[in-house]
Amino acid sequence: MCGIIGYTGSEPAKDILINGLKQLEYRGYDSAGIAVLDPNTGFFLKKKTGKVEELAKAAEEEKTDATCGIGHTRWATHGGVTETNAHPHNQGAVTICHNGIIENYKELTSEYGLKNILKSETDTEVVAALLDKFYEGNPYKTIKKVVNLLAGSFALCIMFEDQPGKIFAIRNVSPMVAASFEGGSIIASDLTAVINFSKKYFVVPEYHILTLSESGIEVQDLKGRAVEPEILEVNWDITSAQKGGYPHYMLKEINEQPEAIERTVAPRIQDGLPYLEDDGIDDDLLKNLKDIVIVACGTAMHAGMVGKSIIESKLRIPVTVEIASEFRYKDPIIDEKTLTIVVSQSGETIDTLEALRLSKQKGSKVLSVVNVKGSTIARESDYVLYTHAGPEIAVASTKAYTVQIAAMYILAARLGYVRGVLTEEETKQFMDKLSGVGELMQKTIKASDEIRGIANHIKTAPDVFYIGRGIDYTLSLEASLKLKEISYIHSEAYAAGELKHGTIALISEQVPVIAIATEEHVYSKVISNVREVKSRGAYVILVTNEGKTESSEVCDQQIYIPKVDSVFGVFATAVVLQLIAYYTSDAKGLDVDKPRNLAKSVTVE
Ligand code: M6R
Repeated sequence: MCGIIGYTGSEPAKDILINGLKQLEYRGYDSAGIAVLDPNTGFFLKKKTGKVEELAKAAEEEKTDATCGIGHTRWATHGGVTETNAHPHNQGAVTICHNGIIENYKELTSEYGLKNILKSETDTEVVAALLDKFYEGNPYKTIKKVVNLLAGSFALCIMFEDQPGKIFAIRNVSPMVAASFEGGSIIASDLTAVINFSKKYFVVPEYHILTLSESGIEVQDLKGRAVEPEILEVNWDITSAQKGGYPHYMLKEINEQPEAIERTVAPRIQDGLPYLEDDGIDDDLLKNLKDIVIVACGTAMHAGMVGKSIIESKLRIPVTVEIASEFRYKDPIIDEKTLTIVVSQSGETIDTLEALRLSKQKGSKVLSVVNVKGSTIARESDYVLYTHAGPEIAVASTKAYTVQIAAMYILAARLGYVRGVLTEEETKQFMDKLSGVGELMQKTIKASDEIRGIANHIKTAPDVFYIGRGIDYTLSLEASLKLKEISYIHSEAYAAGELKHGTIALISEQVPVIAIATEEHVYSKVISNVREVKSRGAYVILVTNEGKTESSEVCDQQIYIPKVDSVFGVFATAVVLQLIAYYTSDAKGLDVDKPRNLAKSVTVE
């Protein structure tokens, strides 16, 4: 939540910061601002509510050649969406941008008598005021003193007026990456704003003070010792983080799924068998576990539910799926024989991270399925199975979800193989089918015109129901989340057989029902449930396998996915459901990639 950037170098900073903020905008988009530091004239600040484009327009006229500055795109936590509350915040000789939450800002305000000097309602300005209050010419000493007072999470970029050409930075929990290159240094919340300058970067270590200048970046720990951070190299380029001719990132990312699955699955197959040695996941871990708990939020949790369904049904290992924000405040029944699987695209979701920490405290080994290399969740896990979706920019997750499912399938196959539940032949067949799902998704993507028609039908509905059984029910949950978040249509996902125990009262002519029926062994049961809603007037769209034709007494429209075992059909079904949400949002003229009230990476609890 919130994107921050800092640049110092040989080029004018203003446009670099604004372009960087455009890359980071998916992290929060209530308001945006920049501050540059001119050695002669001091700070120049520009802030605007709304999208970064508004800031870009407002800053166009402003002439400044300053080559050092910081910028911010906000997802409001403390204080409403106003220009005053937008970052950067200035207090005297100090200007800062902040991502995170300072939990004790009220206490600090009263303890240090700051009330009368604060202009905004933010927690951030309190940090700026403290830095200014204690500053006597030594940035390092001041930053150390102030961060020792702070409770909460923070990524801070700081400029001191008498330190031209320098940006200081420090973080706790909230992410930041940094890079130096010929002619300057850059720091940002994530790589999308860095990659234009350098493919080599490092993850800013927690509680270390960085000094960025044109000539490079110095890193010191809080004892003043120089630290050499580990340099990583990114394996995608800036075009992966651009729209590439698509009207929206979401549509681009839906289309990228077959490739993302291939990148995630192919390197993990050796001689036809699942291979996790390069990921450092040893067979003993898989052989000896007694149960599994999968912890995640939102879409990632829905991917976990698909994982549960397959691990339980094929391997007979008990799996529970937990909402991370609930799990972290429970006293979960886990121990050293439990494997905790943490699923996260960003690797920064705070609730998921805290759940991971709790699991480790309880002695459980943690394996994370993460997309962002070097993220906090990846670093804190005992084992990491990276997904290779590439950068996901649309707030609504699509390709990250299907690669998470694919990663769990690989894990399930290896589990089954090493525990002797699946024979070598069965395991090979499983992996072979998994390798083929990209093609099925491609076929489905090509048939998207028909799906666009459905969107036109549901775009005016006040309410949409998704129903299914088994694995299709888990897909319904994700489909419903997707529709809600980008089309603002209220929607519910229901286990098809449960509807009649109360909720069917909500079904009427105005409420379309999207029924998913791809599991052969419960197909006729779902069709019976479909008849129940149809006879109450619902407009029914049935998503099912090729060859399953139903009459108009059962449904009004049918969408087919290629005929395949439902375990592997989930990938194509997911595409159908993603496209329904995408086209509905687009048909309503909404901002598909940046839905209201949301942000891509949820780093507050
Ligand atoms: O980065 P994470 O996978 O940990 O994010 C978890 C959720 O916030 C995320 O999946 C969210 O539900 C989706 N962006 C919604 O499409």
